[in-house]
Amino acid sequence: MPVPRTLIAGNWKMHGTVADAVALARAVVAGSAGLPADLLICPPVVHLLAVAPAVSGSAVGLGAQDCHAAGKGAHTGDVSAGMLRDAGAAWVILGHSERRADHAETDAQVAAKAAAAMAAGLCPIVCVGETLAQREAGEAEAVVAGQLAGSLPPGFAEAGGVVAYEPVWAIGTGLTPTEGDIRAMHARLRAEVLGLCGPAGGGVRLLYGGSVKPGNAAAILALPEVNGALVGGAALVAADFLAIAAAA
Ligand code: 13P
Repeated sequence: MPVPRTLIAGNWKMHGTVADAVALARAVVAGSAGLPADLLICPPVVHLLAVAPAVSGSAVGLGAQDCHAAGKGAHTGDVSAGMLRDAGAAWVILGHSERRADHAETDAQVAAKAAAAMAAGLCPIVCVGETLAQREAGEAEAVVAGQLAGSLPPGFAEAGGVVAYEPVWAIGTGLTPTEGDIRAMHARLRAEVLGLCGPAGGGVRLLYGGSVKPGNAAAILALPEVNGALVGGAALVAADFLAIAAAA
């Protein structure tokens, strides 16, 4: 299985206005030519329709940050995967640790959402990662393996599914695991994904996320089995996001 092309994904989380989102998307598109990575931006859901024309026809993909597991129904405030597709998204981040924490999302719910996303034609990006207490207890790999086993639905690899390893303690903190720890975790991720998905799991891109910045991107992206990055804060500054992609 060839090494998958690097994916640099921006998770914009809950930031900005419509105008901010369109301007940021335009700046990313403007700087996207010739980069050695695929680019993806994931604005707040309410900004998708406005951002879609800005990325249309460009190499920059558009994604959302969550979806409901049901196709439709009485789910006040929720958004279906089909609605995201209709709004122009081709990707969706699922099971981010902020959603697991803020909304008590379980692995089973994440798997159901991923299946719904795939059924709607979206590529799911399933997030996993340990807390600091779990890492300090020596449980990081076991925790992440358990999350993966519970969160990846059948057909995940064939649908272009992506896994993002984001240690909870590295998100928004400026802290990152050592290169050795990222290397070890990504080796484990690949083994687990191959076990869960079979040979097609070799094509699943494994992203690292958590305080990825222009200054550390080259070292992280050079590690074996790191097939890209899921970027939070630095994705809100076009020059930083593009610099991370350029370091791939
Ligand atoms: P930061 O890059 O701000 O640490 O956020 C990472 C993240 O949570 C991306 O999903």
